[in-house]
Amino acid sequence: MTDAGPLHAALASWYAAHARDLPWRRTRDPYAILVSEVMLQQTQVARTVPKYAEFLDAFPTLGALADAPVAEVIRAWSGMGYNARAVRLHRLAVEVVAEHGGRLPRTAEGLRALPGIGPYTAAAVACFAFGARTPVLDTNVYRVLSRVVHGLTPPERSALEPLARALLPGPDAPLDASAWAQALMDVGATVCSVSSPACGDCPLEPHCAAAPALLREGAPRALAEASVPYVAKQGTFAGSTRFYRGRIVAALRGLPAGGSLSVARLAEATGGLARDAIAALVDGLVRDGLARRIRGGVALP
Ligand code: ADE
Repeated sequence: MTDAGPLHAALASWYAAHARDLPWRRTRDPYAILVSEVMLQQTQVARTVPKYAEFLDAFPTLGALADAPVAEVIRAWSGMGYNARAVRLHRLAVEVVAEHGGRLPRTAEGLRALPGIGPYTAAAVACFAFGARTPVLDTNVYRVLSRVVHGLTPPERSALEPLARALLPGPDAPLDASAWAQALMDVGATVCSVSSPACGDCPLEPHCAAAPALLREGAPRALAEASVPYVAKQGTFAGSTRFYRGRIVAALRGLPAGGSLSVARLAEATGGLARDAIAALVDGLVRDGLARRIRGGVALP
């Protein structure tokens, strides 16, 4: 088993000098951290930073979010993509106000039991907001830990979870589980990239099973990419269902409050999709709480 002590020491001193100054790292407010994590699931850091501030200005507390009409939350999500996240976040706020007195549960298990929170987000909020000693495994952390411990041959992701748990810093370590996870995220985002890892700049290089080969070979893209735990590739966006759903929601969002669009106008907004294709897309949006049908048209919920 890898001795985690040297990893903790190396990462703690690197993080003290290199931590990215990100707004959600300056708060322990569980609601704000939840918002950041839901945004970061599918949106890059640079794009999330301004939207995070805007969203918290519009809905500064979980109670304020729960009280807002869902259409307003969908409007505030503009520019983020994956609009269903806005609806899920709103539902979650309503549920927490109704069932938990407006306070988010403090443990990963408690958070996981809420509607619309997956294992990653539950772990992230428990760890970053409540100090839970639990692994927070996003794709960056997976990649870094996999390379450090398994070198160029990544294991199944399921094998990385127990490993990540075993590597968590204990009470005597120079950093806590939250700083450990965020430092690993920063190494993954700024040094240990998928295609061109900069092993020469990496604090974990002396302890990394992948580094000798990557350094020797000059980290060629193919070798680097082969050492990454499998990530499903996203299909082409243009022309996908998600693309057209986004077009429809964007058109609805552009309307004054209470406004609606006819199927003919939605055909225009989607660049000429046929009626039955639009009907199918609208069915999906209604199911996901992103739209509602009204007489003669479609509106935000
Ligand atoms: N990606 C997901 N969570 C993050 C965080 N807390 N900091 C930076 N990137 C992240």
